[in-house]
Amino acid sequence: MHIRPRRNRRSPAIRSLVRETHLSAADFIYPLFLHDSAEDMPIASMPGCTRWSIDGLVKEAGEALALGVPAVVLFPAIPESLKTPDAAESWNPEGLVPRAVRALKEAHPELCVITDVALDPYNSDGHDGLVERSPEGELIILNDKTVKVLCRQALCHAEAGADMVSPSDMMDGRVAMIRHTLDSESFEDVGILSYSAKYASGYYGPFRGALDSAPKEGDKKTYQMDPGNAREALREAALDEAEGADMLMVKPAGPYLDIIARIRESTVLPVAAYQVSGEYLMIESAAASGWVDGKAVALESLIGIKRAGADMILTYYAKRAAEWLR
Ligand code: PBG
Repeated sequence: MHIRPRRNRRSPAIRSLVRETHLSAADFIYPLFLHDSAEDMPIASMPGCTRWSIDGLVKEAGEALALGVPAVVLFPAIPESLKTPDAAESWNPEGLVPRAVRALKEAHPELCVITDVALDPYNSDGHDGLVERSPEGELIILNDKTVKVLCRQALCHAEAGADMVSPSDMMDGRVAMIRHTLDSESFEDVGILSYSAKYASGYYGPFRGALDSAPKEGDKKTYQMDPGNAREALREAALDEAEGADMLMVKPAGPYLDIIARIRESTVLPVAAYQVSGEYLMIESAAASGWVDGKAVALESLIGIKRAGADMILTYYAKRAAEWLR
């Protein structure tokens, strides 16, 4: 036997020379929940995560930034009293997200602040788009009317100082319309991180609990993708690229590594992947039961997502993983 692959695994020094994929704090985008309250509140459905006050958010983002995490993405919990069928709160310049963006950019100008563009936190139906009922009583998610609202929302976030907007709604044509709106209002430098392949996933359950944003009726299968489909993801990614997206995203991440790899090969744009709430909680709950080593499994799933082809990862572990990797 003259060929022995184990020679390249003999010592930490040799292993570090041959390591093909590296994970660092600079790869992470930190999703943060916020609410309009002076208190920071632990989230029952997502142990280890918090609904931040604006002050708490600024502090948490600052700590993550100091550890090398370059970006955050914001998810607001909106009180039921402000949710309406037209989701008007989503483009209120004095709303929670614009206030948070201004506070973050003032405290940490170098932090990349990304906002989520979708209506589910704001609309009384809990869907990502506007809802109408057909004469037969069926729920219809209105594509083109929704896109108009998304454009107002994106513009409102850009005016507040967001560096990038991130449409997570999966309506058709929204990237082109948002790009056009931002450009015509002189926000040509504000980027679009598009959720290109966002699947209708059971892994979002804890997130909807965190924001009380679950659909009141029906599911999201007429806009989010069928988990069985891969070619359709390439089609969505190609469309978003043609419409002017700056970065493409796959979501969830762990169960869709093949999609990350295929989109990586089909575009030269940066590819992001979202390790979502259910992926996070499966690791956290197994670790809390003592069944797995949480730190080892979390870092392994993150490097697996990176190895599949993601340039960046949205992860609730962002700050903790940055500490582990220090
Ligand atoms: C909705 C949105 C969702 C997530 C991010 N944006 C939930 C959904 O589509 O129902 C899920 C993120 C997670 O589970 O961590 N626009």
